[in-house]
Amino acid sequence: MQRAKKTKVIYPGTFDPLTNGHLDLIARASKIVDELVVAVHRNSEQGGKGKPLFTFLEREQMLREATSEMPNVSVTTFDGLLVNFAKSQKANAVLRGIRAVSDYEYELQMAMMNRKLDPEIETLFMIPGERYTYVSSRLVKGVFMLGGDVTSMVPPNVIERLKRKSLGKIS
Ligand SMILES: Nc1ncnc2c1ncn2[C@@H]1O[C@H](COP(=O)(O)OP(=O)(O)O)[C@@H](O)[C@H]1O
Ligand SMILES: [Mg+2]
Repeated sequence: MQRAKKTKVIYPGTFDPLTNGHLDLIARASKIVDELVVAVHRNSEQGGKGKPLFTFLEREQMLREATSEMPNVSVTTFDGLLVNFAKSQKANAVLRGIRAVSDYEYELQMAMMNRKLDPEIETLFMIPGERYTYVSSRLVKGVFMLGGDVTSMVPPNVIERLKRKSLGKIS
């Protein structure tokens, strides 16, 4: 059976930094959609969650490096409302990850709000492999800065960036 149209899905996030949990989701989604656009939210630079460790350009670069072997995955940044960006990309849906029940309430609220803003954009949820359910960017940063080993939680290029950041070589 032929599918009526190609599926283009946006995976938005802060990615400060990219983790193996994000990558697990990207790999899973890239197998079932035609085109996956990973989109770093630029507003999070001033957002309510505090200043990110990495600039949005660094976060975009880390994602580019880690997904370079995935032909149907592209990486970009966006500003403003997600639904406006999704529409400008002619995307069918937005992808979000759910690790635990604690993610659910916030994600449900966001999905409902986005549906209110644009009823044509669907939100898809995927769950990562079990070993990534406890991995978060926030914990990775915290553990790394206290000298803990995070090599199993982020890709090698992110480890390099974290080391350079902590040495103050990158502003
Ligand atoms: N370890 C993980 N496994 C699966 N999904 C994850 C993981 N870490 C984060 N995510 C999901 O990836 C998306 C982007 O997360 P994040 O970079 O924290 O940006 P945001 O600020 O939008 O939450 C969110 O849907 C989040 O739930
Ligand atoms: Mg988050």
